[in-house]
Amino acid sequence: MEKFVIQGGTPLMGEVSISGAKNAAVAILPATILAADVCVVENLPAISDVLVSLRILSALGARVRMLNKNCYEIDTTHIRCAAVPDDLSRQMRASYYFLGALLGRFGSAQVAMPGGCDLGPRPIDQHLKAFTALGASDSVEYGRIHVESDRLRGAHVFFDTVSVGATMNAMLSAVRAEGQTVLENVAKEPHIVDLANFLNMMGADVRGAGTDCIKIRGVKAMHGCTYSIIPDQIEAGSFMVAAAMTGGNVLIRNVIPKHLEPITAKLELAGATVEEFDDAVRVYRNGDLLPLKIKTMPHPGFPTDMQPLMTVLLTIARGTSIITEGIWENRFRYVDELVRMGANIQVDGQVAVIEGVPELLAAPLRASDLRAGAALVVAALSASGTSEIEEIAHIERGYENLVGKLQGLGANVRRISVPAPSMPQAL
Ligand code: EPU
Repeated sequence: MEKFVIQGGTPLMGEVSISGAKNAAVAILPATILAADVCVVENLPAISDVLVSLRILSALGARVRMLNKNCYEIDTTHIRCAAVPDDLSRQMRASYYFLGALLGRFGSAQVAMPGGCDLGPRPIDQHLKAFTALGASDSVEYGRIHVESDRLRGAHVFFDTVSVGATMNAMLSAVRAEGQTVLENVAKEPHIVDLANFLNMMGADVRGAGTDCIKIRGVKAMHGCTYSIIPDQIEAGSFMVAAAMTGGNVLIRNVIPKHLEPITAKLELAGATVEEFDDAVRVYRNGDLLPLKIKTMPHPGFPTDMQPLMTVLLTIARGTSIITEGIWENRFRYVDELVRMGANIQVDGQVAVIEGVPELLAAPLRASDLRAGAALVVAALSASGTSEIEEIAHIERGYENLVGKLQGLGANVRRISVPAPSMPQAL
C-alpha cells in the first residue's frame, strides 16, 4: 500500500512544468485506431490512465513503442479485434472512447461498462444516442456494451445534455461515416478542440469544435500523423491553487493561459495575483484569502474538476463561501476529510457552505477520487503538522510525478510503501 506523507506549512516557491492533458490523451489514443497507420503522440502525461489506454491498444493488436516517457509511436495497421478486454476497460472511465473509435473503423465494438471516479450516476445514454443516429444498434450483455453497424451514415444529433464524453465519442464515430454529421449542444472544453485538431491531422474533416455546433464530413480513409497534446488545464489549476493556498510564489510553465481563464478569474477574486505570459502563469498571494461564490458549469464556466481544489482554498478564506456543483450529483464526499482537518463546511445536496477558519490541521486522510485526492494534497500542504494520505492510486491516475513536482517547489512530501496488514493465522 502506498501513501503520501506531507509535512505542511511551507509556501511553494519556484517553477513547475505542466504535463499533457489527461482528458485529451484518453480520447486521442483510441482515435489512433481510425487509420490503419502509424501515429506518434507527443506530450502524453505519464499517468496510469494513459498506461491503461496503451495497454488496451496493445491488447487489440496495435504495435505500441515508447520513444520517451511522454511520447509513443502507435501502429494500428494490424488491429483485427474490436473487443476491449474487460479487466482493462473497467480500470478507467475513458475506455468508452474505444466504442466510438472501433465503431468508426470496424463497424463494431465491445467494451465493458467503464470504471473511473465515483461522482454519482454516470449514464452513457447520450453516447448511445449519437451512435444510434449514425445507424448503429446497441445492446448490453453480461456487463458489456456492444455497438454495431453495417454502414454508418451522417446524421443530425441534438444532445439532451452537454457531455464531454458523448461529444468526443460522436466525433470518433462520425469522422468515418458517409456524409455530413451535425452535432448540436456539444461540449466546448479545450480537449474537445484538441481531439478535433488531432482527427483533422489524420485527414478527417471536423469543423466548429469549441462552439456549440460541430460539423463533420465523413471521409473514407484516414492516415497517421505526429501530434502533441495540449497542456492539462486541471493540473495547472491545481498548482495555481496550491501556490495561492500556501502563500507561495510559483511560475507554472507549459500552459495555455486562455484555457485557465475561468480558474484565473476566481483566484483573482479570492485575493491571489495571477500574471500571464505566453505559455506560463505566475501565481502568488500577499493578503488574506477572500470568500467566493462559485457554480461549476460546462466550459467556459468554472470546471467541476477544480471544485474540490477551490473548496480547499476557501476553507481558510476570511468569510463565508458558497460552492454549487452543477455537473455531478455526488462530488462533495471529500468534505468529511476536510472537516477532520478543522474545516467548517456544511453540505446540502449540491451546495457546500464554507465558513473560513484560520488554518487547517494535519490528519490521516483518504482520497476518494482523483480530484478530491489532489485537493487533500493541497490541504495537507497548507496544514500545520504531518498528514498521511491513503488511496493515492486515485491521484496517480491523473497527475504525473506529483511528488517530484511538489518537492521541486520546496514541499516536504514523500511517497512511502507500507506493507498491507497481514491476516491473523487464527481468529
Ligand atoms: N451525462 C448524461 N448522459 C450521458 C453522458 C453524460 O446524462 O450520456 C451527464 C453526466 O451524468 C453529468 C454530465 O452529463 O451530469 C456531464 O458528464 P460528461 O459526459 O461531460 O462527463 P464525462 O465525459 O464522463 C469528463 C471528464 C471528467 C469531467 C467531466 C466534466 C474524462 C475522461 N472525464 O467526464 O473528468 O468531470 O468530463 O467536465 O474526460 C476528472 O478528470 O477528474 C474527471 C472526472
